Amino acid sequence: MITPEEFPYIKSLYVNDCYAYKDFNIELHDYKPFSHLILTGKNGSGKSTILRIINNHISSWRGKTAFLNGAIDPIQQVAELKSSIKSRSSKQGMNDSTVRTWKTKLSELERILPTYVVPVDTIWTQNKTQLIYSHLKAKRNSEVSPVSTVTKETDFTNELQNSDSTETFIKQFKQYLVNKKVYQAFDQLENDKTRLSESEAFFSKLTTAFRSIFEDENLSLVFVRENFEFFLQLSDGRQLTFDVLSEGFSALLSILMDLFMRVDLIRKQVNDYSYNPCGIVLIDEPETHLHLQLQEQVLPLLTSLFPNIQFIAATHSPAVIASIKNATIFDLTTKESRISEETAGRSYSDLMMSHFELNNEYSDIADGIIAQVNNVLATLGDKPTEMKDALQAIYDENSDYLSPTLKVELELLIAQQEAQQTAHQ
Ligand SMILES: Nc1ncnc2c1ncn2[C@@H]1O[C@H](COP(=O)(O)OP(=O)(O)OP(=O)(O)O)[C@@H](O)[C@H]1O
Ligand SMILES: [Mg+2]
Repeated sequence: MITPEEFPYIKSLYVNDCYAYKDFNIELHDYKPFSHLILTGKNGSGKSTILRIINNHISSWRGKTAFLNGAIDPIQQVAELKSSIKSRSSKQGMNDSTVRTWKTKLSELERILPTYVVPVDTIWTQNKTQLIYSHLKAKRNSEVSPVSTVTKETDFTNELQNSDSTETFIKQFKQYLVNKKVYQAFDQLENDKTRLSESEAFFSKLTTAFRSIFEDENLSLVFVRENFEFFLQLSDGRQLTFDVLSEGFSALLSILMDLFMRVDLIRKQVNDYSYNPCGIVLIDEPETHLHLQLQEQVLPLLTSLFPNIQFIAATHSPAVIASIKNATIFDLTTKESRISEETAGRSYSDLMMSHFELNNEYSDIADGIIAQVNNVLATLGDKPTEMKDALQAIYDENSDYLSPTLKVELELLIAQQEAQQTAHQ
């Protein structure tokens, strides 16, 4: 079993070229045993590109399409790839299109060069089925396939080795649950108490996660054996099958289920149901479709359920960056790097200005009103009556859009002008 001390978590990313920006380093903070990484930045700043290329790196030494055998570091990996293109094209008569494909792969890999806290060495290649790796794209599909029969568990174990298995896992999660229920019945027949308690623990952990997401302490996960169906029984009486969940719930559940299944398969392999597997999970926009409240919960939930997984995420959400501990938050637009101690627990308006570079904490509409008031103050400074009328006009015109603070400030200014007007009379 791999421990977090042995696992090659990412410790820095050298960005040669992510299309939008070139030539800079993203150094992850020295949290032990690893730091999560949250990438922010304006649209088109290269967040998804960086995740995609990390995925290419990891896929290049694991998975069915692996073409490298455990290179020590990315620079060596790229060099190895270059030399294998050379030797293969001369020795095995690689045709032009294969050489072109390899060259494209190489130039993609060269865009981002990750380094790891311990050498990658053979860990990824020799322990393919015992490590967690998943790449959840921004446009992830959260559709769950219907189930008509029980399938072999080896189908799932084989998928663990596959570098692009995330979509399969998400589609197949009802199948996985059905299989688990059926095997549970066999365990009951055989009175296998250990396995029964293991699968009970799995369903109970899953139910707890569902309860927290749906904010329903009495939610239960119900299996209908007649048609191999599962539904969530809510305390208000609603019964939700996975295919009728709203976009937000399915998006979040798809991440959770993918990881739950991988962890469960690995625990079974190592025969230790308390083992927390190590790994790296890339999530592009974990906030997709989520209400602010769930945006705050998504990463804390994932990091507490899967404590040995390094999450590398791209986000536009202040709620996401304020919610995570032990993380480096790097903004690609400004190249500014922050650590959780600087972002966790900060007010969202503060983060919007300091990290997301908004001019101030007000909306554009509020900005417009403030500009009108400032203009009146600048031009009618010595004419209290006109100033009062002008401020009153702004107040009346915008009263529906004024925040309580702006309302009070404007009322105060009007009262001041009134007082000056009376003093002059
Ligand atoms: N294969 C490619 N060839 C050429 N340009 C590309 C390629 N992939 C991405 N780009 C460009 O790289 C830039 C960064 O794109 P990317 O999708 O990484 O941005 P992002 O930070 O994820 O943006 P968003 O917040 O909108 O998702 C964009 O200008 C994009 O058009
Ligand atoms: Mg993107």
